[in-house]
Amino acid sequence: MNVMSKSSEVMKKGWKVSMTPDDIYRHPMDIAWTFNYELSGDKVEELYKRAKQNQWDSDEYLPWHIDVDPSKPLINARSDIYHQMPFFKKLSKSQRETFTAHSTAQLLSQFLHGEQGALMTAACVTHSVPDATAKLYAATQTMDEARHVEVYARYCDKIAMVYPMSPWLKALIDATLTSDRYEKVMIGMNMIVEGLALGAFNNMYRTTQCELLKKLTFNVMRDESRHVSFGHIYLGPVIAKLDEAEREDLADFAFQAVSILTGAGTANTIASRVDPGFMEVLANSGIDADDFFAGLQEAEDAGIVQELPPGQIHSIKDLMMPALARVGLITPTVRKKYEEAGIPIFDDLRVLEAMEGGHPVAA
Ligand SMILES: [Fe+2]
Ligand SMILES: [Fe+2]
Repeated sequence: MNVMSKSSEVMKKGWKVSMTPDDIYRHPMDIAWTFNYELSGDKVEELYKRAKQNQWDSDEYLPWHIDVDPSKPLINARSDIYHQMPFFKKLSKSQRETFTAHSTAQLLSQFLHGEQGALMTAACVTHSVPDATAKLYAATQTMDEARHVEVYARYCDKIAMVYPMSPWLKALIDATLTSDRYEKVMIGMNMIVEGLALGAFNNMYRTTQCELLKKLTFNVMRDESRHVSFGHIYLGPVIAKLDEAEREDLADFAFQAVSILTGAGTANTIASRVDPGFMEVLANSGIDADDFFAGLQEAEDAGIVQELPPGQIHSIKDLMMPALARVGLITPTVRKKYEEAGIPIFDDLRVLEAMEGGHPVAA
């Protein structure tokens, strides 16, 4: 199969869906002035200083001269859970390689679209958070996210493939962007989306064979670890001071956001978890969708595709749920909702704290 000719179709579709009138929202949110310019002298100020010191210019820092062959897998196939499926082993080598190239492009496209969402949420926090130091920090995050959009757009351009934004990711970021208070924006982005991203970046860093993508991912990940830290060190004390009804409102928002992510509330079949972009990946790889899902079901039934390879991170279990639990957003009321929805709660902080503490790569 000619990967490049398929790629250009994908790219056209990808850019087209990002330009519809449905993607423009009118949304009034509180905008907070402050005239107390004194910096906080606490961990938020430390984080702001770290963010200033760790700014980087992708033009200077990344080896853009490296050629990337989009027809060759960008990640080590052994780390791809699909390669463990018996069905997958029956495909031809070229089909497997094409699938890996396209599914990686689809994932990188989600990084790109997600970064645009992060850019907008960080700007939103900058104007709506009432604290001066938090405003300055949020401005550094806005610049970080601009850089992330730039580097992923440039990398996707190198492989000449951009897949559309996954509907669940768009729904999650839209719920965050159109929420009614900055605390919810931070819960949706700095705890949930960035927890998800940090795990996905860690796994990409560990599995990619492309030197450019490896270095790009490492630098993005270092920025993201600050963003996740901000969700904890600024928002934790804010949540602790809220009254019960307000905290419950935030906890419920977090539950709704996690539900979007996990697909709770919809029929939890394999097909329902798959988005149109992934169906395009299968079509571009010449794999029949029915055969693929039957193969995936067979592998799930046999317990083959449940476990991640060593060193890879499970974003929900290791990063997102512990972050929500740590700031008191798993209240008794929402705990019941998680249980009813079949979403397990995890509160082991070890991986999260290691990644926040300047060790952006999981041990
Ligand atoms: Fe980012
Ligand atoms: Fe971020």
